[in-house]
Amino acid sequence: MIRTAAYAAHVLSGAFWTGAVLFVVYAVLPRATDGDLSRESFADAAHRLLMVTRWTGVALPVTGAYLVWVLYGSLESLTAAPRGWAVLAMLSLWGVMNGLVEMGVLRMRRELDPEVGWGQYMAEGLPTEAFADGGGAPTTQRLAAVSRPYLLASAALAVLLLVDAALLAGGIPV
Ligand code: HEM
Repeated sequence: MIRTAAYAAHVLSGAFWTGAVLFVVYAVLPRATDGDLSRESFADAAHRLLMVTRWTGVALPVTGAYLVWVLYGSLESLTAAPRGWAVLAMLSLWGVMNGLVEMGVLRMRRELDPEVGWGQYMAEGLPTEAFADGGGAPTTQRLAAVSRPYLLASAALAVLLLVDAALLAGGIPV
């Protein structure tokens, strides 16, 4: 019962996060690159993506670690067979993709506030109000340009994560 709930929470979190990254790259980033979106709308989408990344960034490793514990018993047994390697790949892809989304949104924040520290950024993310009053703030295109490499790389890793999950679901041997 608990295992089923952990699976459900894990898969829902993974679907929400990878789907959010792919949607932003497919539907929001191109419009921002063209300058068809307001700065506030793009900043809001990026902030929400960051929040999804952070919430699922707690839920995925917690439920994933529980699944490792109940299904594999120990970290060592993960290195012993292809199914374990797929789980280790999942963990690694999660870590790198998390870092890429954080870095991409931090680059946007630094366009507005070059001196922002890591602590303040972790607490505030990319508050939309900060962009509201114009001034010397960056254009939507500039925000898209600085975050684009990070978001594109995140989307590529999201695809790899989904393929990895599909391999597990398709039943690679233990
Ligand atoms: C901290 C990172 C993660 C850890 C430790 C982890 C661990 C695990 C484990 C142990 C399983 C069960 C494997 C098995 O059935 O043998 C699993 C399944 C799964 N994970 Fe992850 N995972 C992580 C991140 C992710 C992410 C980011 C996604 C996003 C796509 C994801 C999607 C899935 C899916 C869809 C399954 C179900 C596969 C199946 O049907 O067996 N996981 N994960």
